[in-house]
Amino acid sequence: MSAAHAAAPRPAEPAPEPDGTSTGVWPTSVRRGDDGALVVGGVDVRDLAVEHGTPAYVLDEADLRGRARAYARAFAAAFAPEAGLAGADVYYAGKAFLSVAVARWVHEEGLRVDTATGGELAVALRAGVPGAHIGLHGNNKSAEEIVAALEHGVGRIVVDSLAEVDVVARLAAERGLRAPVMVRVTTGVHAGGHEFIATAHEDQKFGLSLTSGAARKAVDEILARPDLELVGLHSHIGSQIMDLAGFEVAARAVLGLRAQVAADTGYLMPEIDLGGGYGIAYTGADSTPPTPEEVAAALAGVVRRACAELGTAVPRVSVEPGRSIVGPSALTLYTVGTVKDVQLDDGGRRTYVSVDGGMSDNIRPALYEADYTATIASRTSAAEPVAARVVGKHCESGDIVVRGVALPADVAAGDLLAVPATGAYGRSMASNYNLVPRPPVLAVRDGAVRVLVRRETLEDLLALDQG
Ligand code: LLP
Repeated sequence: MSAAHAAAPRPAEPAPEPDGTSTGVWPTSVRRGDDGALVVGGVDVRDLAVEHGTPAYVLDEADLRGRARAYARAFAAAFAPEAGLAGADVYYAGKAFLSVAVARWVHEEGLRVDTATGGELAVALRAGVPGAHIGLHGNNKSAEEIVAALEHGVGRIVVDSLAEVDVVARLAAERGLRAPVMVRVTTGVHAGGHEFIATAHEDQKFGLSLTSGAARKAVDEILARPDLELVGLHSHIGSQIMDLAGFEVAARAVLGLRAQVAADTGYLMPEIDLGGGYGIAYTGADSTPPTPEEVAAALAGVVRRACAELGTAVPRVSVEPGRSIVGPSALTLYTVGTVKDVQLDDGGRRTYVSVDGGMSDNIRPALYEADYTATIASRTSAAEPVAARVVGKHCESGDIVVRGVALPADVAAGDLLAVPATGAYGRSMASNYNLVPRPPVLAVRDGAVRVLVRRETLEDLLALDQG
């Protein structure tokens, strides 16, 4: 390797500057104030740090509401009866991040809520989301979760196995109820940003296979049970998907099964759900993500065409975006501690910037090799850029927050660092590894801060320990 190459070991890009768009990496309200510090939702990040400490997830309420509203509007327009379709519902996938306020906001913006556990269901109900506007997923639901869904009149329970068909029917019968169910179908489409988040190929735990006949078997069982109402078929192919082609293939497969069932039994299921999984930009290197309008148009087109070809009436369609609603709406604010210059094997150097959080507040780099970017949030700097790696405070060398980013050479202890696009699967997958208390979620809007989830304290952690 040449000396010139060795001197510049890793081409790392700086974070894109905030540009006020909804397709970039930053919440739309983020800008640099007059003295160079980031302002989000009208609040200076330095004030946030002083008042609430770091690390902290900072959620731009207007941005999140705007994304939710954009999905509601785009799907209402694309699936309108005038467009030859039968309407659509957008369920916000609460697994990406759910708190009572967020559930209320998306509800106010016209969305429903998709839950995957009794915990998510409880939060959606606490927010006042009507049971009929909530869906319950899960490949291994407990009886308690199913009973909670039934008793709160959840609009659909998405069954994930043949055994579950039996359990839901029995629990509904015991209560004199008829349970609305959908069948989770795996269509064989393999899509998604990482093996662990692709969900519709054969060799994984979710759903009932279309090709093996398991999905059809579940449909027939449900149709034979008076305690179950078959609402429709469900497909979720994966997550962080930028190319819409996979959704179209999956939609065709699901619509094909729906038509086959209608031909054989005379029952045409009224709905299909095409899942979530629309990608977002995490760094400047990511391609531009599909907009809600593009997603809605693509899905509306394939549903219209496929139903025309199959000779069936169009179904009502639902989708379940999570990441693309909450992901870009939040950034994580950290404080820089130790800064270390490390000599690499090839003779180059890398600056290790340690922050006061890490894999406990963002497991995604360690789990999926996910890329993020970062910028100094408390000031601008004219110093030369250096190849930096942002790391956490945990006892693992894989505790990486940002694998490679250009930061100014004068990055120093006490600087605030902002990592964008951490709203989805950040707080919701946070842990207490190394007994680190989990950060708060702070909502900002019009210059005001509201604590949605407070910071955990050592007392919280000690209170769980029974000695
Ligand atoms: N619907 C179902 C049935 C799902 O399983 C998921 C995500 C979604 C909707 C929402 O997908 P989204 O629009 O958020 O991509 N922890 C991983 C992602 C796991 C996704 C699991 N299911 C990550 O951090 O990338």
